[in-house]
Amino acid sequence: MEAEQKHALFIQAKEWTIEAGERIKERVQQPFKVNTKRDRKDLVTEVDEDTEKFFAEKIRNTYPDHQVLGEEGFGDDVTSLDGMVWIIDPIDGTMNFVHQKRNFAISVAIYQDGEGIIGLIYNVMTGDLYSAKKGEGAYKNKDLLPKLDRTRKLEDCLIGINQFWAVPNRRLDETGVHQLIRKVRGTRSYGSAALEFAFVAEGIMDGYITMRLAPWDIAAGVIIVQEVGGMATRADGKPLDMLRENTVITCNPAVHKEIIDNYLILKD
Ligand code: IPD
Ligand code: CA
Ligand code: CA
Ligand code: CA
Repeated sequence: MEAEQKHALFIQAKEWTIEAGERIKERVQQPFKVNTKRDRKDLVTEVDEDTEKFFAEKIRNTYPDHQVLGEEGFGDDVTSLDGMVWIIDPIDGTMNFVHQKRNFAISVAIYQDGEGIIGLIYNVMTGDLYSAKKGEGAYKNKDLLPKLDRTRKLEDCLIGINQFWAVPNRRLDETGVHQLIRKVRGTRSYGSAALEFAFVAEGIMDGYITMRLAPWDIAAGVIIVQEVGGMATRADGKPLDMLRENTVITCNPAVHKEIIDNYLILKD
């Protein structure tokens, strides 16, 4: 895609993301319906659904040949990444949205023939927008994010983890996980995969590791992290697949191999 065309698409995606954020902000303090999906901890609200509908409608009207892959099912039944595909998480961190009314994000990515070309992560309540166009660097609002520090030592790292790590996990050797937690300087858990990717890109966290994420959780984050020289792969180091769930490690490039080889010992 020509740079100019890519820029126009970026501006459009950014405009819709900010507009969607405004609409969410108007509703965050009002009562909204909360339902559950897979189990009692898997929440979805009418705001998640309406936000995804907002994007799906805009995209269909403006770019009828583009496909939409969204968490709440208002997009298309996407079975291939051929052509232009928007991968959207209307609210990433729904539990935070419901309980905290903050610490959630809109995640919007555009892939062209399987390659991520545009990524946007909008921290709605702070107004911080992380964005990237492939090959043109990543930004936090108007500021270009510096490349990640390649001399980072694992013992100085702050790593994002989640509840998978606190309870026995059939896929992970606990010894490795516990050793990693002892080795690093600290761990954090923010409850929004998209924001954890954004924080890795910003260099305020050095990594984020989780055992199961969907394409919409990571699609924009991967593009943004890669633009600052960061890594984003499966937990075994293999490439991520944007059509299915993945194990995920995103981190500073200085510690990627060390974490995978020495600590992320997968059982299968
Ligand atoms: C969730 C968040 C959470 C992660 C979950 C995701 P959702 O997304 O990113 O941090 O641990 O695995 O499903 O459902 O709030 O969009
Ligand atoms: Ca969800
Ligand atoms: Ca999500
Ligand atoms: Ca979501």
